[in-house]
Amino acid sequence: MKENNSSSYNIESDDKSSSRKSDHIELAFQSAVAKDQLNNRFNYEPMFSGHGQDTDLSINFLGKELKCPIWISSMTGGTEKAKVINKNLAKICGKFGMGMGLGSCRQLLFDDSRIHEFDIRDELNNQPFYANLGIAQIEKLLQEKEEYRIDDLLKTLSADGLIIHINPLQEWMQPEGDRYKIAPIETINMLLQKAEYPIVVKEVGQGFGPRSIKELLKLPIKALDLAGFGGTNFSKLELLRSDKIRYNAFKEVYNLGHSCEEMLEIINNLYLNEGEDLSCKQIIFSGGIRNFLDGYYFISKSKMKSIYAQASGFLKYATDYESLLDHVECQIEGLKMANSFLTIKN
Ligand SMILES: Cc1cc2nc3c(=O)[nH]c(=O)nc-3n(C[C@H](O)[C@H](O)[C@H](O)COP(=O)(O)O)c2cc1C
Repeated sequence: MKENNSSSYNIESDDKSSSRKSDHIELAFQSAVAKDQLNNRFNYEPMFSGHGQDTDLSINFLGKELKCPIWISSMTGGTEKAKVINKNLAKICGKFGMGMGLGSCRQLLFDDSRIHEFDIRDELNNQPFYANLGIAQIEKLLQEKEEYRIDDLLKTLSADGLIIHINPLQEWMQPEGDRYKIAPIETINMLLQKAEYPIVVKEVGQGFGPRSIKELLKLPIKALDLAGFGGTNFSKLELLRSDKIRYNAFKEVYNLGHSCEEMLEIINNLYLNEGEDLSCKQIIFSGGIRNFLDGYYFISKSKMKSIYAQASGFLKYATDYESLLDHVECQIEGLKMANSFLTIKN
């Protein structure tokens, strides 16, 4: 039924013509859309491009060349299933020239018996590959003067740098969660004075408010990964792990935070009005990115160099390499299509 081979269109023979025509008649009523389904973010301009199959999507990001502006957000480790997931994700990054962050590598700081679940550098070729730790662990390591463990971790993994996740609401909602003793901005400042590797800072699904964004962008971090509200929500997830009384008492908490849309405005205004005070000028739009259209929207509208990222969007396919491959091919094809025919409505 689906014949999508436009590149081999032949004006003289069209073998599929008869079955296509019958499909059209059969599916015409099903294909009707309601007016309120219109995606109002874009102008659709069909007049000024070919199909753009060969569009170059490459971008230099975090000091490396990505073949497309897509990042796989930090996800899991610490289970046997994670080994398959991480390996598939790494392979796909290597194949399509994307970058990825590991899930929290906390377990590896003191014991490398699970290193095989994270040992994926070879699959990635030379694509950007970042280890991941929570700010609570960084605070403790600094306190104990054991920050050398982070250098060891990066060396063991052959990682290009470190992603630090800031997740106070998740920690608060997590039954066994950590508590920070000092402000994350101070911890990051302290680490930056000692670290010789690139650092990226992210949330885990609530995003950052304007003051946090401004202070983070003033620091010499390499990129800010927004991990905004609207997708996977770890405050909610942790509450789902707790008892009913606690769930009911705190359930409004998981609706706190900032969407990518809101943070985009904050960041663009900062760039326009205080750009010269900012040290970090690379953004990863993530958190609730549903597909390439969302991604294209944010990176097109961003005044700063940016890419987009998904976690759950990749997780859905990550245990089966062939499905993952098809999924990523669709994302890249979609980005090329968007580049060819869509501009942003202001
Ligand atoms: C299964 C799973 C595990 C995750 N583990 C981590 C983690 O260890 N460290 C981290 O910084 N973020 C972690 N995240 C958060 C993601 O990196 C991302 O910020 C968040 O899921 C929002 O993106 P999404 O809406 O595309 O899923 C995890 C997400 C998922 C789905």
